[in-house]
Amino acid sequence: MPDVTLTTLRGLKERGEKIVMLTSYDATFAAASCAAGVEVLLVGDSLGNVLQGHDSTLPVSVADMAYHTACVKRGNRGALVLADLPFMSYATLEQALESSAALMRAGAHMVKLEGSAWLCETVRRLADNGIPACVHLGLTPQSVNVLGGYKVQGRDEARAREMREAALALEEAGAAMLLLECVPSPLAGAISRAARVPVIGIGAGPDTDGQVLVLHDLLGLNPRPAKFVRNFMTGQGSLQDALAAYTRAVKDGQFPAPEHGFSA
Ligand code: KIV
Repeated sequence: MPDVTLTTLRGLKERGEKIVMLTSYDATFAAASCAAGVEVLLVGDSLGNVLQGHDSTLPVSVADMAYHTACVKRGNRGALVLADLPFMSYATLEQALESSAALMRAGAHMVKLEGSAWLCETVRRLADNGIPACVHLGLTPQSVNVLGGYKVQGRDEARAREMREAALALEEAGAAMLLLECVPSPLAGAISRAARVPVIGIGAGPDTDGQVLVLHDLLGLNPRPAKFVRNFMTGQGSLQDALAAYTRAVKDGQFPAPEHGFSA
């Protein structure tokens, strides 16, 4: 496939074709995911959980992220590489620029930050410096200690309005993409329709512009999978077949199904 760029992703949104994103941490799985048609490889700070064995993403460093981004870059075959800025690496504008530069130099095409409207200035400054940003809203795992656990966000009307307004303000500030985690399906659908930029969901129901899963969840390696996870190894004979089944299910609108989402 030709190299996936932001223009490609905007075109997919405009045509109503679902975008397929999957986490990736090494060269071998990056190449296998590309062969299966994954369009965006997310070097997620979930590597703190699934690779490093921590119980949260908080211990992950910029050096860890740069290392895995470089590994993914070497296996990448045309996907867009999105890398997470880890906990406390974008608390100031200077930190955000420095941390993002490290990930872009390692091979990322875009960086992801967790937060809300307070990130507008950061996103604007990154865009001014040639760094596209994806903002992760809703359940933001780096803030688990503030949120009081891994819970669905935006269930009451006031918080839902706040999230909708934040999404549009971030887009206005220059965010190139939005990602919604554990957000009621109707709210995620409304944000996706209102935003011009692509909106990717995880635990956000069937009406976002695309979908992401953690690789290890897709492969059935999580002993306590969340409600929004589907084990794509079931009924498949190989890892490659499981990755292809995921891509197909997202493109066909079969995954996520309504039962993978949350109500308001
Ligand atoms: O770190 C990660 O893998 C993520 C996904 C859960 C979206 O941010």
